[in-house]
Amino acid sequence: GVETLLRIPPSVLKTHNRREDAWTAINGKVYNMTPYLPYHPGGEKELMRVAGRDGTKLFSLTHAWVNVDFMLDACLVGFLVSESSA
Ligand code: HEM
Repeated sequence: GVETLLRIPPSVLKTHNRREDAWTAINGKVYNMTPYLPYHPGGEKELMRVAGRDGTKLFSLTHAWVNVDFMLDACLVGFLVSESSA
């Protein structure tokens, strides 16, 4: 449920930047991409470009039509918040 989701500031997001532990933020939601890496049609390398940071821009540049909300629902870990409101 939503009560178990985390509030994640950029400094924390940044620490999850390895393939074994790869988080990204898209449209304010933070996803754990690790389980999805082998399944991405665009390859693992492209996903790792946004590991540990906000991937919204690159995501929408490559495929704005993809419903990440739906696809990565099971990988949702929380919400991106500003450093000061963490
Ligand atoms: C293709 C999902 C992130 C680059 C695709 C496709 C899906 C997908 C479903 C196939 C789209 C289609 O054929 O219409 C996702 C999800 C992401 C994500 C759920 C969330 C983490 C990214 C990022 C990049 C990227 C951040 C770039 C840095 C690409 C590229 C393709 C692709 C280049 C085209 C592959 C090809 O057709 O040869 N992705 N993607 N993706 N994705 Fe992603």
